[in-house]
Amino acid sequence: MKTFFMIKPDGVKRNLIGNVVSRVEKEGFVITKMKMMSISDDLAKKHYAEHSEKPFFNDLVDFITSGPVVAMEVEGEDAVSEIRRIMGATNPSEAEPGTIRADLATKLEENVVHGSDSEESAERELSLFFE
Ligand code: RTP
Ligand code: MG
Repeated sequence: MKTFFMIKPDGVKRNLIGNVVSRVEKEGFVITKMKMMSISDDLAKKHYAEHSEKPFFNDLVDFITSGPVVAMEVEGEDAVSEIRRIMGATNPSEAEPGTIRADLATKLEENVVHGSDSEESAERELSLFFE
């Protein structure tokens, strides 16, 4: 199974690419595609379309377009749910110790990584970023 995984601008700015990639590989996943890129306003709005009515939508789009990200296609058993597990909860203060967000992130709005939340999202996001 494949999922879409991304290191957000805060993770890139804080030199956490190697740390995050290493955790993914140590868990036995294979990175099958990878690119550093900037996200356009248009792509950000499509990627986070599910949140378009939320009060934090504009801040979310501003943040995700604020600097380069590292976008990946990751393959492995139960990749969607297992990658979400190693990421930890959305709010780092609620994330399990040992997860990427608990160990590396400090706040809800800048939580270092994104991972697809379902197989449908994974397909949609992989085609948005890798077509
Ligand atoms: P992501 O999509 O980025 O992987 O995060 P997620 O599934 O864990 O969380 P989601 O509900 O999809 O929210 C997307 C991002 O929006 C920010 N957020 N801000 N200010 C707020 O109340 C609020 N709530 C969510 C978070 O940075 C979250 O990662
Ligand atoms: Mg999400």
